[in-house]
Order: sequence, then C-alpha cells, then structure tokens
Amino acid sequence: MGENIKPREKLLTSDSPKMVGTKDLLAIILGHGTKKKNVFDLSKEVIRFLRENMGKEIKVSDLTQFDGIGEAKALQIVSALEIGKRFYKDKTKMQIKKVGNGELIIGDCLDVMQTMPDNEIILAFTSPPYLNAINYEDQIKKLSGEIKYWERKEVSYDYYKNFLIDRFKELYRIIKPGGHNVVNISPIAWNGKRVALPFHFVNWMESIGWVFKEDIIWEKEIARDRRSGVLIQHPYPGYYYPSLVVEYVFVFQKPAENKEQNNIYHFRTRKEKEENKMDLSDYQGEKSKNIWRIRPVAPQENIHPCPFPLELAKRVIQYYSYKSDTVIDIFTGSGQTNLAAEILGRKHLGIDTQEKYIEYAIKRIIDQTSQLRLGDRFGNHS
Ligand SMILES: C[S@@+](CC[C@H](N)C(=O)[O-])C[C@H]1O[C@@H](n2cnc3c(N)ncnc32)[C@H](O)[C@@H]1O
Repeated sequence: MGENIKPREKLLTSDSPKMVGTKDLLAIILGHGTKKKNVFDLSKEVIRFLRENMGKEIKVSDLTQFDGIGEAKALQIVSALEIGKRFYKDKTKMQIKKVGNGELIIGDCLDVMQTMPDNEIILAFTSPPYLNAINYEDQIKKLSGEIKYWERKEVSYDYYKNFLIDRFKELYRIIKPGGHNVVNISPIAWNGKRVALPFHFVNWMESIGWVFKEDIIWEKEIARDRRSGVLIQHPYPGYYYPSLVVEYVFVFQKPAENKEQNNIYHFRTRKEKEENKMDLSDYQGEKSKNIWRIRPVAPQENIHPCPFPLELAKRVIQYYSYKSDTVIDIFTGSGQTNLAAEILGRKHLGIDTQEKYIEYAIKRIIDQTSQLRLGDRFGNHS
C-alpha cells in the first residue's frame, strides 16, 4: 500500500480489514482523511463526544443516547475505538530508532506490540527477563557508576507467569500463521529453590495456542558455576549438584488454518526459494542434531548481563525465516537478534524497556555492519 493512500481507501482496497493499521482505523472512525464521511456515518455531535472523551472509557450506553445509534452500532463503535486507541495510548510511551533494516524501540513490549497489526511477522526470537534474578535498571546504574551493587526485586512466580503470558499472547496475535516463536530459557532459582521454568513455560505457551515443535539444547562448553565442587568437598551420595552448562531453545509455531500454509516455505515465490537455498556443507554433524554447542558471550564482550551468543540467533534466523522477512525480539537487550538479522538480510524489530541497552544495540549494529543508514523517528507500525 502506498504512503499517500487515504485511510478509508486503504480499508476499502485491502484484502483484510485486519491489515489496516490502528492509526488509520481511528482516523476512519473520526472521519480524518475522508471527505466528511466517516465509516459509521456519525453526526457531528457524536464525533465531538468521541473526541472529547477519547481518554476515558466510552460505554455502549453513552452512545445509544444519540439519535440514530442503536446498541449494535454502539457496540461496533466501541470495539473499533478500543483497537484505535491502542495507537494513542502508546505513542507517547515509546521511542523508535531506525537502524539498517530494522527498528529498535524503547518501551514495554506489551505496549509496543499492541500498536502492531495482526498476523504480520514470520519469526520471533527472544530470551525473557528473569524478573526476580536480574534488576536491569540497577544493572545499568551500576554500569555508569551510580551504584556499587544491584539488588534483586521481590517478584512472585505468579506475577511473573502472568507477565510472560500477557506478552506471549500479544506476540501470538502479531505472528503470521505458520510463523514461529523461538525462546531461549533455562531453570532459575526462585526464593532459594531451583524452579523448572522452561517446562512450566511450555505449558503456558500451549494454553495460549502456540504449538510446541522443537526442544533444542544449547550447550555452553564451559561452566560458570561451582556446583560440581560440592561433591568434591562431600564425596557422598546426596551431594551431587552438576554444574549447569545448558539452556533450552524451544521452538513454537502459530498454527495455520490451512495445512499448506503451515510451512513458511509455502508462502514463497520460486525466486525467493532459490535465493534462500541453504549451504549445508557444515550441516552434517553438530547442526543436524538438537544439541548445539556454542561458546557463551564472555562478560567483557558485552555490557548486557545475559546476552545470548550471536551464533545462536543466526542459526534460529536462518532456519526459521527467509531473506527480507521481519524478525522480532520482544526483549532484545543488547540486540543480538537484531544484529544477526541485519547480517543475514532480514528486517528486524527489537524492543527493550532500557534506553541504555537499545543505544548499545544500535551502536553494535552500526559498528559491526557496513553501509547502514541511521535515523530517529517517532511513529507507529501501521
Ligand atoms: C534476558 S535479557 C535479553 C538479552 C538479549 N537476548 C541479548 O542477547 O542481549 C531480557 C531483557 O528484557 C528487558 N525487559 C524487561 N522487561 C521488559 C518489557 N516489559 N518489555 C521489553 N523489554 C523488557 C530487560 O531490560 C532485558 O534487557
């Protein structure tokens, strides 16, 4: 769709109304960009009422008081407004920075995703924040010398569960049927106990509708903890605590209604297939199995407290997307997913609440790739 097409024309000419951005939907309801007519044929009084009350909750009963608006029409208006308001609600909260073929966005990923259309993105890759274990705000203050130590936050496991479910539910909406959600996750310590987070997480994802596809194990080559030393000090049964050298990389898919669409290969033209044919010269052996041995990032290599390796992001992107597809990381941190996507010729989006990490991610993408265009812009994704 061209940039100069008016919102109403966009709606009328698009294959699916769902593909029209939220900003345009709101403009259509209010009659912006149209010649006086608005979709619901609303009178001036109703439009004035809507504009004045945009920041408040508008109920069906508020609208049925106006002449010519019955319950059905009022309900349609309220629903359309709810979708449209997402844009206004979040526009001020987020800041979008363009880099190369991507956009890095400062904000809560839930807010940001709510401004995006349904069924648009082929691949998501992320590692979620461990809200109880790492205090990212404090980690940044420590980096700048503002504080010496950072403190853990008190977060209940139930709160954390809901935090993740809300965000991965919204992710489900924006992923294209047949597309994938790949998540790097590992067991964590919660109130002094080791919690089987990855296994609970699979269950939470399935309750949203994500279909479990693969369990890949990322083996880190070297152990950073000293757990195994306990048995050396107490060489008796009951003191076995193996050092932790693996994390999980789970692959989930958003099922397509049509079986044919359930493989991202089927969306492609002959030319795209040719251009994306993979070089398998180093495939037989390690890459063909679901244990990937990849060196973790050393602390001095990245300011982020827990980046995943670039190689991990590269493999996921190569196996689950085609060139020019969009890849999103909803908790992007130092932007490893974005960097890998940029290197591999994909479009990319990265979201993080911390401005410092986003700035760092942009710098790394510029430093590590060539001929990038940099620019800042504020706006939405419609
Ligand atoms: C495990 S780290 C991701 C690290 C990243 N994979 C990398 O390689 O650098 C999780 C990130 O989520 C961010 N975060 C926490 N809550 C968030 C939210 N609601 N929306 C977006 N990002 C969030 C944190 O600031 C942190 O950088």
